[in-house]
Amino acid sequence: MVQINPSILSADFARLAEEARRVTGPEGADWLHVDVMDNHFVPNLTLGVPVVESLSRATDTPLDCHLMIESPDRWAPQYVEAGAGSVTFHVEAAAAPVRLAREIRAKGARAGMALKPATPIEPYEDLLPELDMLLVMTVEPGFGGQAFLDIMLPKIRRTRQLIDKHGLRLWLQVDGGVSAETVERCAEAGADVFVAGSAVYGADDPAAAVRSLRAMASE
Ligand code: DX5
Ligand code: ZN
Repeated sequence: MVQINPSILSADFARLAEEARRVTGPEGADWLHVDVMDNHFVPNLTLGVPVVESLSRATDTPLDCHLMIESPDRWAPQYVEAGAGSVTFHVEAAAAPVRLAREIRAKGARAGMALKPATPIEPYEDLLPELDMLLVMTVEPGFGGQAFLDIMLPKIRRTRQLIDKHGLRLWLQVDGGVSAETVERCAEAGADVFVAGSAVYGADDPAAAVRSLRAMASE
């Protein structure tokens, strides 16, 4: 089953509840992707725990929080408490990724681990059973609207092979530059969760964009 997770990074931050409603409902988004940036791990600053707390009360759609921050070991549990259904930390920033994944799960959310473009999957093969989702970044994290990095397709393919080799059921998410032009290549390489910011919120009809991305990814 393919999932489409619109990134609210490309939405109007003054009207988040309304922007969430535009992409949810029947045939709408499965999750809302929430990009948390701290201006240290990435050169951009977005939102934090209080906004996630408010947004989780304002929508029934579960929140997929992508933490592009330093010290995720300290912060990630707070996002679970704020109502996130899934919390993804960057392995490059985590002091103790196994302990952190276990803590996120123990608190009741799905645990995700993200890899920047230059971070290989192979050293983390043994960690996969600790995770509910692996995120392969297809742009350098920090900004929406960047061009998809084709050179990440082999990594998506290798990650899918590792997941299948171990008989795991974790989701393989791609994030960055996912659009009508690139979603099929990601799906073909083995991704099953697709984050799309500008391709959804930049469209005249964001709900229709979600439906058409889903159709293209499902082919
Ligand atoms: C980038 C973020 C993405 C971003 C994607 O660092 O992690 O989630 O919103 O935006 P698009 O889909 O426009 O590349
Ligand atoms: Zn993201």
